[in-house]
Amino acid sequence: MIDSFGYAVKQAKVEFTPLEFKRRDLRPSDVLIDIMYCGICHSDIHKVKNEWGNTVYPLVPGHEIIGRVVSVGSSVKKFKAGDIAGVGVMVDSCGKCEYCKAGEENCCRNGFVGTYNYDEPYIGGRTYGGYSKNIVAPEKFTFRIAPNADLAATAPLLCAGVTTYVPLKRWKVGKGTKVGIVGLGGLGHMGVKLAHSFGAHVVVLTSSENKIKDAMRLGANEVLLWKNKNELEKHKVSFNFILDTVSAPHDVNQLLGLLDVGGAIVVVGIPSTPHSIDAGMLIGGHKILAGSGIGGTKETQEMLDYCAKNGIKSDIELIPITKLKEAYDRTEKSDVKYRFVIDMSSLKK
Ligand SMILES: NC(=O)c1ccc[n+]([C@@H]2O[C@H](COP(=O)([O-])OP(=O)(O)OC[C@H]3O[C@@H](n4cnc5c(N)ncnc54)[C@H](OP(=O)(O)O)[C@@H]3O)[C@@H](O)[C@H]2O)c1
Ligand SMILES: [Zn+2]
Ligand SMILES: [Zn+2]
Repeated sequence: MIDSFGYAVKQAKVEFTPLEFKRRDLRPSDVLIDIMYCGICHSDIHKVKNEWGNTVYPLVPGHEIIGRVVSVGSSVKKFKAGDIAGVGVMVDSCGKCEYCKAGEENCCRNGFVGTYNYDEPYIGGRTYGGYSKNIVAPEKFTFRIAPNADLAATAPLLCAGVTTYVPLKRWKVGKGTKVGIVGLGGLGHMGVKLAHSFGAHVVVLTSSENKIKDAMRLGANEVLLWKNKNELEKHKVSFNFILDTVSAPHDVNQLLGLLDVGGAIVVVGIPSTPHSIDAGMLIGGHKILAGSGIGGTKETQEMLDYCAKNGIKSDIELIPITKLKEAYDRTEKSDVKYRFVIDMSSLKK
């Protein structure tokens, strides 16, 4: 077994303490990576605080991972020691169902294995995430990173990037589309950059007045303070597509009112309480309400390559691992510009 250690919470509180644990020895298809950077996703916060009710402690979060390959199993072809590699939200899946075969492991019929807080399939216990020294993952769930990439600012693509790329692509957002991105946080700011690069007319819907200037810089054509009813009125029945990234409870019916006839809203944010939907808002104008969860290995690599080619990366605030509490507090106050990334060289035993 391989020694590792990281920062863990032991109960539903943002109180991180060092934890020593083991990674499995490499199977033929495994890659061992020394972690250099790990993004802080709001899902980490929901999970730490047990806001979805399914956290098992101790928990080492982190699923936006970039690092250097230390060693590889005997059958690994994609990587050799010294390469830079990324790991996202998944580290395994059944490999046999039609979705796994199509590279859409996020829809695996038997459920994928998450990078943290899932059952570890080979040595038992739980999976531990990227707020740690190293990680072992199958080659299939390990991604190539462009050699000249800004590594810290690329890490957030592994979750925030792919989670926004997949629905924008699936719903054919591009030239001639009026798209709303709701919530300008980690996911939202990637959604803006991607939708802008696809040629869409991008409207940011924010609850933070102080983000208007940034929204325009990131690629928005318009910004809407959507808690203001007058502003909503100007845009009613006009959007082809809305991506809802909001992490806290909010009124989705207001957003449904903004959709054009036949328009779609795709929910990616996961507040801890259920949405309440007014059927009247849905049926008038044949509105579509849908969801989207991360992306499979095929589209994750495709997105990474697309971003490298088009110079798309995350706007980040790089922090040492000792600043987790501050980063969590600020993220919860919608005060992250626009993703915290942990510099893992700050991890000391
Ligand atoms: N579907 C998936 O596969 C997937 C993947 C990753 C994350 N997620 C989920 O997506 C959500 C967003 O994640 P994130 O990392 O982007 O979080 P984040 O960086 O905290 O951004 C969330 C944004 O939502 C807005 N917001 C927060 N509270 C609000 C409120 N009370 N009313 C209105 N707007 C509010 C804020 O934007 P403004 O300041 O602009 O209003 C905030 O910046 C989380 O729930 C996360 O768990 C889902
Ligand atoms: Zn995430
Ligand atoms: Zn499967």
